[in-house]
Amino acid sequence: MAITVSVIGLKGGTGKSTVAINLAAGLAKLGFKTLLIDADFQASATMGLGVEVVDGELTILDVMKRTDINDCIRETLIEGLWLLPADISLSEAEMELTIRPMREIVLRTALEKLDKSFQYVIIDSRPALDLLVQNALMAADHLIYPITSDPFALKAFGYYLQLIDYVTDLKRKYLHKPSYKFDCRILLNMHQQSSRVRDRRTEQVLKPLRKQILQTKIRRTESVGRSHFEEGDSSAMPVIARPRGAYERGAAEYRALVKEIVQLWQN
Ligand SMILES: Nc1ncnc2c1ncn2[C@@H]1O[C@H](COP(=O)(O)OP(=O)(O)O)[C@@H](O)[C@H]1O
Ligand SMILES: [Mg+2]
Repeated sequence: MAITVSVIGLKGGTGKSTVAINLAAGLAKLGFKTLLIDADFQASATMGLGVEVVDGELTILDVMKRTDINDCIRETLIEGLWLLPADISLSEAEMELTIRPMREIVLRTALEKLDKSFQYVIIDSRPALDLLVQNALMAADHLIYPITSDPFALKAFGYYLQLIDYVTDLKRKYLHKPSYKFDCRILLNMHQQSSRVRDRRTEQVLKPLRKQILQTKIRRTESVGRSHFEEGDSSAMPVIARPRGAYERGAAEYRALVKEIVQLWQN
């Protein structure tokens, strides 16, 4: 089965979607067949790959309504990278899920049928604790939590750890593995050299979890965001997939992150 990674967090704007698309594209560029799942109705991951969902095209909402996942995914312009897109209609998913039995494992069950040639699945979530996010957590064995050093992000982080405990319990029951544990790694994201006080505060909050912090830090670099949000819809692309040049600093950091992740989680 593919190595499945959820990018999670309780605050918007910490770079989750950016991490998800760059990680997925970077894995594909290394030759791993990868599926990026957009589990956020704001569709940043979908748009960040330059994809627009036209009315009637299948999306993750159809997967939540039991359509075969293999019929809903599509190839992207990046070789080896496939996308399960989202659009605003995904906002219906919560209502759809509430009445379902086994409602937290709909995505996990769908992924069991995914074509076996996929080696990685990366899931981009929205900052919430709803059923869709619980589905993203239940589907993954590996978690990446991008954290920025602002006070709200740090506060939200402590709260989120409680949710992970809750979902861990749920997962232990579903999998009948009483000692199951997520592998959750923290990514210091949009790091800025200039903010020493914030750095110290972040360090304090994360001290008990320092073994879980990824070695690679991603700095705040203007071209990282511009690459997939501001270059125009259809030419949007993660920085890691751009030719070198103006995008190189961000791309190099993301290449290091992808390498670290592969070494960490390769079976
Ligand atoms: N390393 C970075 N440097 C500068 N801007 C970034 C970086 N990573 C992400 N961004 C920008 O920050 C904003 C929030 O990122 P996004 O990935 O959408 O966060 P989230 O998914 O957590 O809401 C976007 O405008 C994005 O382009
Ligand atoms: Mg996002």
